[in-house]
Amino acid sequence: MSISPNKLNHKITPFLDGDHICLVPIKKEHLDLYVKWMNNPRVRRLARSTTPTTKEDIEKRFEVQKKKIKDSFYFEIFHKQDKKLIGDCGFNNISWIDRRGNIGLGIGEPKYWNKGIASEAVNLLLKYGFDELNLFKIYADIFSPNIGSWRCAEKVGMKREAELKKHEYIEGKYVDRYIYSIFKDDWKDYNKNRKNYAG
Ligand SMILES: CC(C)(COP(=O)(O)OP(=O)(O)OC[C@H]1O[C@@H](n2cnc3c(N)ncnc32)[C@H](O)[C@@H]1OP(=O)(O)O)[C@@H](O)C(=O)NCCC(=O)NCCS
Repeated sequence: MSISPNKLNHKITPFLDGDHICLVPIKKEHLDLYVKWMNNPRVRRLARSTTPTTKEDIEKRFEVQKKKIKDSFYFEIFHKQDKKLIGDCGFNNISWIDRRGNIGLGIGEPKYWNKGIASEAVNLLLKYGFDELNLFKIYADIFSPNIGSWRCAEKVGMKREAELKKHEYIEGKYVDRYIYSIFKDDWKDYNKNRKNYAG
């Protein structure tokens, strides 16, 4: 049985609002959708979801969000025109002392790939991370075959800071893990003269 992408009837209140998408806090009622995305071979391939993801696994995300001092925030990506939930993204393991946060993202509905949606979502996360959470540095772990992810990172101004050689075993091959990052001042400079910037 397949679950169709969630076509929402109720009004969405964006937490972070972009041109084509908005980011809204994740909801327990949508667990089945997240499970579908994370187990889809096309989606999980380069996202390192190597073992099956259960509802219970994803419920742990809600536990993290209940912490008194939160270090992770996840959002659903809502497509404004189509009124559909199409993926999720957010911050993992924020270190409030070092003012650094790791971002992750997945567009669970492959139909929406290659339309600039990941780049728009990451721009929203960067602006939120720097202007609201007062982070100093934002970074992402990306595997070398995931060209879409590292091109997206470069498009929003992130730089490849480190390469861990043959660090991951994906589809029968050892591949590199890249760390992409951006500092607040560099993000500000990068966006000063840019059009289509979420800020
Ligand atoms: C990887 C992923 C996030 C990219 O999202 P997206 O919305 O398609 O990305 P964008 O449309 O913003 O594209 C950013 C850039 O990457 C390019 N790109 C996207 N997918 C690509 C691919 N498979 N191969 C080569 N380039 C690709 C785009 O053309 C664009 O570059 P351009 O503006 O210079 O043309 C999406 O494919 C996805 O969610 N995949 C499954 C889960 C996953 O791998 N998550 C990431 C874990 S690190």
